[in-house]
Amino acid sequence: MEQLLTQIEELKKEISAFNGGDAETFRIKYLGTKGLVKSLMGEMKNVAAENKKEAGQLLNEFKLFTESKYEELKGQSTTNGKPQTSNIDLTLPGDPMPLGSRHPISLVKNRMISVFQRLGFAVAEGPEIEDDFHNFTALNLPENHPARDMQDTFYISQNPDWLLRTHTSSVQVREMEKGKLPIRIICPGRVYRNETISARAHCFFHQVEGLYIAENVSFADLKQTLYFFVQEMFGETVKIRFRPSYFPFTEPSAEMDISCLICGGEGCNVCKKTGWVEILGCGMVHPNVLDNCGIDSNKYTGFAFGMGIERITMLKYQIKDLRLFSENDQRFLDQFTGAV
Ligand code: PHE
Repeated sequence: MEQLLTQIEELKKEISAFNGGDAETFRIKYLGTKGLVKSLMGEMKNVAAENKKEAGQLLNEFKLFTESKYEELKGQSTTNGKPQTSNIDLTLPGDPMPLGSRHPISLVKNRMISVFQRLGFAVAEGPEIEDDFHNFTALNLPENHPARDMQDTFYISQNPDWLLRTHTSSVQVREMEKGKLPIRIICPGRVYRNETISARAHCFFHQVEGLYIAENVSFADLKQTLYFFVQEMFGETVKIRFRPSYFPFTEPSAEMDISCLICGGEGCNVCKKTGWVEILGCGMVHPNVLDNCGIDSNKYTGFAFGMGIERITMLKYQIKDLRLFSENDQRFLDQFTGAV
């Protein structure tokens, strides 16, 4: 009995101070089929009959003690022995969680929308898969116009009348068809063209187009609207010029340039030494377009304009390669934080 008692006392000390490994190591050493608890139990046969009861109690108590130590170790450790809960200092600061940032195209788009909203323009949206009428025919594009060519436009193979819209002018057509006048809308959205991808062109990009139709709308209104936009977007010192141009859906038509933001108009690589960069196309809505959409062209006039968001963003941030916008390189995207 005495021997058993001292053995148990020593083992208890050893177990209390156990730091020889994880819970599984402990279980094998003390509680396994070849463990110390089992072999102590085997000593029972050597105990005198009158002490058997007392010895049994002692051994049972020792077994419970060992098991509770095992439970304690299990709570502390995973199988690979790393502390899981009780060793964690909950007051330590956590690992920072990297936050995403808005895409530069979204930032600039939102800014453009807010500038036009202040002038009373509402946002209109429409489908990216369009039919020929809304993308081309209604806009006075003749049957043989090169823009309709497969080289320039993606057609849906199941239905040759369907295509991926090449501009958001199609949304303007949908709005005119509704017949509610006056109309003062901007149409932000993604458009598609069958272009070879390069630093300056992509097979998809984004536009903001605008349309204002009412009685007595003039080219002066168009100019004033675009002056306001450019000054809000690029600052008051930027100069503007209009050049005569051609679009089937506007007459007269113009393209608008702003003085180069990089060299301030002195001439550099970005403006190809001209001091000017083109940012948009615009004009007075062609009477044929109004008629095609059921609007009385004798009573109403209107202006329209359209520009690429990528282009505005590249000028604003001096980005030289269009492909960066769709590559999802976080080192590029992380540079754009907050509103424009
Ligand atoms: N739809 C033209 C384009 O995508 C832009 C434009 C819109 C030009 C309205 C004139 C008037 O290039």
